[in-house]
Amino acid sequence: MNEATPRVEDAIHSRKSIRAFLPDAIPRAQLEHILRVALRAPSGGNLQPWRLYALTGAARDRLVAAVGEYRKSHPMGDAPEYPVYPPHLNEPYRSRRFLLGEAMYATMNIPREDKAARLAFFARNWEFFGAPVGLIITMDRQMGVGQWADLGMLLQNIMLLARAHGLHTCPQESWSSFHRVIRRELPIGEHEMVFAGMAIGYADSAHQVNSLHSDRAPLEEIVTFVE
Ligand SMILES: Cc1cc2nc3c(=O)[nH]c(=O)nc-3n(C[C@H](O)[C@H](O)[C@H](O)COP(=O)(O)O)c2cc1C
Repeated sequence: MNEATPRVEDAIHSRKSIRAFLPDAIPRAQLEHILRVALRAPSGGNLQPWRLYALTGAARDRLVAAVGEYRKSHPMGDAPEYPVYPPHLNEPYRSRRFLLGEAMYATMNIPREDKAARLAFFARNWEFFGAPVGLIITMDRQMGVGQWADLGMLLQNIMLLARAHGLHTCPQESWSSFHRVIRRELPIGEHEMVFAGMAIGYADSAHQVNSLHSDRAPLEEIVTFVE
């Protein structure tokens, strides 16, 4: 599972969200290389509207511990700084989200009724699923829809480059619910909005959750060829 896939097409196919990592550290030089190359991402007007905080070692552990402490009084954190999803998802989006959740918990034999077990697994988000590197991604609040798209390109670059280095990732909007704690732990300016986190590390191939392979709508449903 952790073999490198340097060809872009292979990297796209081999990338998937990993939700259980080995604790093995990533050399600082390798992490820096991945991030430096990823920062070649395009952005409208070359604004480069992003900021990244790359947490390793004690800093990563401190954030995880601080969120763990905060969760004792705020189990799901606070309202995110932006609407992560529309309040009422229509079809087909609602079903896609539901099916993803069902498929993920099915890999671990956690039934719908076992809310406690589902929540306990979901809360692993705030431990970066055990990954040794945690990224926190922010954007200046003055930015709008166009720049959100820019941010996505940077994240995808990181995820594909990680694959080229035999590493895996999980992008994590769930971190946005803990922006208050993140702000206490990191030198994030008030003008920055916490968009998401990202776990980076080696996949734990033995963990059932990593057997999940999410579906995609077929090309015919998405693409309209106009000749
Ligand atoms: C911006 C973004 C935020 C995401 N946030 C989370 C998250 O907080 N927790 C999580 O487990 N997965 C998260 N995901 C992963 C998605 O659930 C996943 O990309 C989708 O189900 C497709 O599966 P795949 O990445 O394995 O191909 C996020 C993905 C994106 C692009």
